[in-house]
Amino acid sequence: MNRQTQASLQAYHSFRCPSITEEEVSIRSEDDLMEAYRLGLFNEPWIVLGHGTNTLFLPRVSERVFLMQFEGFEHEILNDDQIHVTVGAGVEWDDLVEWSISQGYGGIEAMIRIPGTCGAAPVQNIGAYGQELDHVLHGVRAFDTQKGVFHDFTPDECGFSYRDSLFKRPEGRHWIITSISLRLHGASYQIRPTYPSLVASLNEAGISNPTLKDVGQHVAAIRASKLPNPSSQPNAGSFFKNPVLRGDQASRFMAQFPEVPWFELEVGMSIPGVETEDDGTQDASSHAIKVPAGWLIEHVGLKGEWNGRVGVWPKQALVLYHQGEATGVDILELASRIQDKVRQTFGVELEQEVRVYGVE
Ligand code: EPU
Repeated sequence: MNRQTQASLQAYHSFRCPSITEEEVSIRSEDDLMEAYRLGLFNEPWIVLGHGTNTLFLPRVSERVFLMQFEGFEHEILNDDQIHVTVGAGVEWDDLVEWSISQGYGGIEAMIRIPGTCGAAPVQNIGAYGQELDHVLHGVRAFDTQKGVFHDFTPDECGFSYRDSLFKRPEGRHWIITSISLRLHGASYQIRPTYPSLVASLNEAGISNPTLKDVGQHVAAIRASKLPNPSSQPNAGSFFKNPVLRGDQASRFMAQFPEVPWFELEVGMSIPGVETEDDGTQDASSHAIKVPAGWLIEHVGLKGEWNGRVGVWPKQALVLYHQGEATGVDILELASRIQDKVRQTFGVELEQEVRVYGVE
């Protein structure tokens, strides 16, 4: 365990805005966590950080920041179809994806290039291009900072939903994830991409029976064409969640704004029992629908907006970015302007996906 007071957080979040915390603590093992517990380091407000790819720090952070640097990687072939993998919280998520593709193990190939650590992956139940972590997650090992004990969570205990889990909600914030286990698929895995832009990209290349490698390559290319590079344009990926509308709210919205595209809650999967139109849409009046926040932002005229310090990415309006000169306060100002305009125009509340800490 390594402790440093008045430490800079600039290198520890992908927005890279200037920020100072009271104390930074590096954690490399379960013993480090026990020691921190015995020293009472969890008795004052704290935050745990992977690679900070979904976090925005404002200039002054009073919380103690724990940097998770757990390594570790094990796998076991259970049978032809099931591969059990356990990885330390500090392992880079994309390294795991690259490894699974190279081994021919399916289940996470479309989640290639999602930045961040494996330990952060369950917190917001990461997902992309029709795959979501909870489809393959088998267990999460975590440390209870209130009781000083470890617990192995089953997927059900993690309380997953779209971009959410127990670990993200207030009642689960006292847990620190130390490793995750996945069940990947072996030889009999059926690769059937359903996400529209991925299917289109594979079709264009004339690929009708894609391999894991094809899926990985195409998703990586789509991401590179749509998302800014964090090393030159610091950002945290999607700044907002796609709003989920249910029942009456969904029907009212669809009647009032028939031009707005929408998706069933689980992108790429159809709602059972509901007829699908030729254009792929369904009548979701009695279901939950997800509306692309990027579309809403684009249609209030803010896509590509640049105020001199912070902007809305011109190729994907869900992403806010800067050129290295903005503070967290500048970014939040733009975010609330976007939220106000979307609320006024569409009556929809955009919820932040990014976690924000600190004060001006
Ligand atoms: N759209 C627009 N304008 C935009 C952006 C999107 O009109 O500027 C509309 C289009 O109709 C498009 C639809 O939104 O067809 C969906 O867009 P896209 O496929 O780019 O996906 P998304 O809903 O904007 C989500 C995730 C991304 C993930 C992609 C692909 C959330 C909050 N974001 O974005 O995740 O990569 O799907 O699966 O769910 C991230 O979390 O950091 C992230 C990048």
